[in-house]
Amino acid sequence: MYHSKINGLGYYVPENVVTNDDLSKIMDTSDEWIQERTGIKERRHIIRGQDTTTSMGVKAAKIAIERSGLTTDEIDFIVFATISPDYYFPGPGVALQQELGLRTVGALDIRNQCSGFIYALSVADQFIKTGMYKNVLVVASELQSIGLDMTNRGRSVSVIFGDGAGAVVLSREEDITKGILSTHLHSEGEHAKELAVLAPGMGGRWVTDIIAENNPDDESYYPYMNGQFVFKNAVVRFSEVINEGLKANNLEVSDIDMLIPHQANLRISQFIQQRFKLSDDQVFNNIQKYGNTTAASIPIALTEAWEQGRIKEGDTIVLAAFGSGFTWASAIIKW
Ligand code: UT7
Repeated sequence: MYHSKINGLGYYVPENVVTNDDLSKIMDTSDEWIQERTGIKERRHIIRGQDTTTSMGVKAAKIAIERSGLTTDEIDFIVFATISPDYYFPGPGVALQQELGLRTVGALDIRNQCSGFIYALSVADQFIKTGMYKNVLVVASELQSIGLDMTNRGRSVSVIFGDGAGAVVLSREEDITKGILSTHLHSEGEHAKELAVLAPGMGGRWVTDIIAENNPDDESYYPYMNGQFVFKNAVVRFSEVINEGLKANNLEVSDIDMLIPHQANLRISQFIQQRFKLSDDQVFNNIQKYGNTTAASIPIALTEAWEQGRIKEGDTIVLAAFGSGFTWASAIIKW
């Protein structure tokens, strides 16, 4: 029986900064509204032709592999989380395998929205625990900007999301007091349509039907979110799944050195921080700079926290996410 530990980590965000004022030029919104409701000041959007979901994932992965000290030949498996793949199929895992020049290792795509990275981490952790693989590359990348409804109709969703990627190399750890202590995954399909993009599947129809109908008013291509309903469920599930992780490891809230919540909304993170009575030092947020990057948000935040020296050897790190599905998850890590 082994544990797995994060052995290298990295992130990449496109250079193009889009401020709230930039958005207010193309839709009826304001810096004041966005900051008050979400805490977001700016986000990154790709420049078309310069980046894709795969290319961002590749850039983050290269940094993570370099920091792990491993060669690409030592990577045994790829797990790639995204809701914004370059192609409907195949998923970006195989493109990453090719672009990084990895051996013909397995590549698994995970589609679990904002919980995607923790689901991916959990899958990688199980492969390592059983002894099947030694080093697994876990990547999360999202290119959301080109799929958003940038008109007034879509403003409550489109101001929130941003583009970016994060990656970690998960490696075998023989000391079972270290590394990922546990992961906890959940779902509740009853609320699937409260945060969703319905096309191109459409529950029985297909994108070709929609194109044939050529209806420019069809909203099904764009993400829909019942914001307040999602918010209310998020704060409950975040709390539950953090507690579940702590309990499974006989840990107390006071043992948390760093909580890295999925960056859905600064207000959600603050709510959780208050509920658990955590200090500012115990919670990491960067949604102010990047918006909500869905599956990529946790590995981007984890990498930034680590780069800023806010994660030290021996720290107890809690990752927690909630999003479309609904799905939610947590991971408890001894760094
Ligand atoms: O990452 C996955 C999980 N996601 C989440 O957890 C997100 C959860 N939800 C939220 O973060 C919040 O619900 C939002 C930030 C999405 C929305 O904030 P809200 O406080 O729930 O606002 P609302 O949707 O209730 O809208 C309030 C008002 C409405 O106007 P009326 O009806 O009061 O006149 C909206 O039309 O604000 C209006 N509005 C906007 N105004 C300016 C909606 N979007 C905008 C906008 N700019 N971008």
